Amino acid sequence: MSGTTTATGLLAAIDGVGRDPKRGGYRRHVFDPAERELREWFVEQAQRRDLAVRCDRNGNLWAWWGEPGPGAIVTGSHLDSVPGGGAFDGPLGVVSALAAVDTLRDNGFAPDKAIAIVVFAEEEGGRFGVPCLGSRLLSGAIDPDVARHLHDQDGVTFAEAAAEAGLDPARVGRDDEALAAIGTFVELHVEQGRGLIDLGAPVAVADSILAHGRWRFSFTGEGNHAGATLLGDRRDPMVPAAEMVLAARIAASEVDDARATVGRIVPNPGGTNVIASTVDVWLDARAADDANTRGVVERIRDMATDAAARENCELTVVEESYGDTVVFDAGLRKTVSAALGGVPALPTGAGHDAGVLAAHVPTAMLFVRNPTGVSHAPEEFAEPADCEAGVTALATVLGQLAG
Ligand code: GLV
Ligand code: MN
Ligand code: MN
Repeated sequence: MSGTTTATGLLAAIDGVGRDPKRGGYRRHVFDPAERELREWFVEQAQRRDLAVRCDRNGNLWAWWGEPGPGAIVTGSHLDSVPGGGAFDGPLGVVSALAAVDTLRDNGFAPDKAIAIVVFAEEEGGRFGVPCLGSRLLSGAIDPDVARHLHDQDGVTFAEAAAEAGLDPARVGRDDEALAAIGTFVELHVEQGRGLIDLGAPVAVADSILAHGRWRFSFTGEGNHAGATLLGDRRDPMVPAAEMVLAARIAASEVDDARATVGRIVPNPGGTNVIASTVDVWLDARAADDANTRGVVERIRDMATDAAARENCELTVVEESYGDTVVFDAGLRKTVSAALGGVPALPTGAGHDAGVLAAHVPTAMLFVRNPTGVSHAPEEFAEPADCEAGVTALATVLGQLAG
């Protein structure tokens, strides 16, 4: 491979893969045809650069510059997206890692420590519901049996999808060798808020991630006829489900810096003239710490329980995933910031594989300015010049850590 490839040029090469026909943007879910095409593209890009590619037991792809082994300097992100997601969330970190390797090589850099690029599987939890599934499995943060039984909206289990993608589902789970391979992890990511717009800077280092989790609220009532059933005779689970959506806004607004979102409601069976039998409502809740996050969820659960009782419905609540507050390694953050001439530090409300890994290894993140301030939507963006500033920053950091 000769000559540096730009992050924007690499993103352009995958521009047509996995377009979301409904919302615009992208729908790239783990092990679906689009995400598998991206994986193949990544493998090809790595091989063009003479990087040795491996897929670990949990479906995470690794591309090695240097001898695979413990204590490497690892960078990367993910290639899956939310439904209708943007082009940058995940892929920017992957293409920037490839471009940073090009930059270092063009500069004649010879690493003392091996450098690896990793592509984590199912970061968004867009298919199987648990975010950062690849890094959680690798680090032992989720019971492999629980993971194997997760299923997508068509009832396909993670075990079945993994097998179809060529993995042995019996072998998913904590991977001490892969974990030991990560001496330091640095993830570059598009910023998902307005921090860098306000600061007028192209690049920042992350300092923390909010505690966050996902809960499924299932309301059960009585399916019936929309015309023939008197209002007083109804047990309509959509009514407490609607109240729960409003409860989420009320509860989050009572706690500083908390967020609560309902982005998915599924009535069963879902017919215009049918009173639903059940309604599932997924809650995403985030706050500064564990107590505040759980407090918000409890408050929502209390209000939803009262709403369900008023409609003679039942409610069950299941926690589907949880991750506590992350404060990134202060020493590494200072090293990274100093290497970049003192870039600002920003907190984030978005979850990342770097946050999962931070419990095990020194971890840092770089954010690249997003002039729209919008993410998880097609409007997510980063200017080419800022993407290149990100690549330069990542190359500088990798060079310092691996040199
Ligand atoms: C992932 O981007 C999340 O924060 O949900
Ligand atoms: Mn991401
Ligand atoms: Mn995301």
